[in-house]
Amino acid sequence: MSYIELENVKVEFGQERTFISKRRKVAKVVALNDTSLKINEGEFVAIMGKSGCGKTTLLNVVGTLLKPQGGAFLLDGRNITDMNDCELAKLRNHEVGFIVQHFALVDDITVEKNVALPLTYRHIPKKEIDKKVAEILKRLSISDKSKRYPYELSGGQKQRVAIARALITEPKLLLADEPTGALDEETGNEIVDILKELNAKNRMTIIMATHDKEIALAANYIIHMKDGKIVS
Ligand SMILES: Nc1ncnc2c1ncn2[C@@H]1O[C@H](COP(=O)(O)OP(=O)(O)O)[C@@H](O)[C@H]1O
Ligand SMILES: [Mg+2]
Repeated sequence: MSYIELENVKVEFGQERTFISKRRKVAKVVALNDTSLKINEGEFVAIMGKSGCGKTTLLNVVGTLLKPQGGAFLLDGRNITDMNDCELAKLRNHEVGFIVQHFALVDDITVEKNVALPLTYRHIPKKEIDKKVAEILKRLSISDKSKRYPYELSGGQKQRVAIARALITEPKLLLADEPTGALDEETGNEIVDILKELNAKNRMTIIMATHDKEIALAANYIIHMKDGKIVS
């Protein structure tokens, strides 16, 4: 059994509109259309495809943020469709790290507080949290920014902080949604090198959505999507 298994997963979004005549109409968008996929532990996979093809939706399903309306999704042999919201939140906090294009940092707290955030949901002594934060900031070469605020940092530094925050819980799975989309080429390559190293040294499973071919080449293999389907 693979670490991640999607079988005929279906996700639809209904966009409801009310017309002047008070007639309501629901326009359906099929974001994932009978998508099947297997990913093994320790693999680094890139997902490519045009904007709107379903990359983010797929990552959100795998990250258990979105329950599919049809099909089955198994993570490490567990059927996610059967779990309740509380169980899913716990699973996410312990096993999944997310990074996104625009970093999603909390702007009015310092770098070190941002990185510590996922651990504050657990009962861990502050001393231990501080030690972990210091270690991870050092590993990502941003120790000197620990007391700074996100708005004081460059894009590349912000993404390093976001990666640090994702790694602080030591997740098995890292989901990266266009992680280099807001960065220049050189900085983007640095970020991808960090992901490559995490995959090679820590055997972390990584799924990265991108529409940049060069960036996608960092992965072990590339999945191409079109209109909610995997085409190759
Ligand atoms: N919350 C939502 N409500 C309605 N439609 C959505 C929502 N999220 C995504 N969609 C639609 O689903 C399709 C897939 O979107 P998405 O997964 O974001 O694609 P990508 O990340 O490849 O650009 C698109 O047509 C998009 O408009
Ligand atoms: Mg997207």
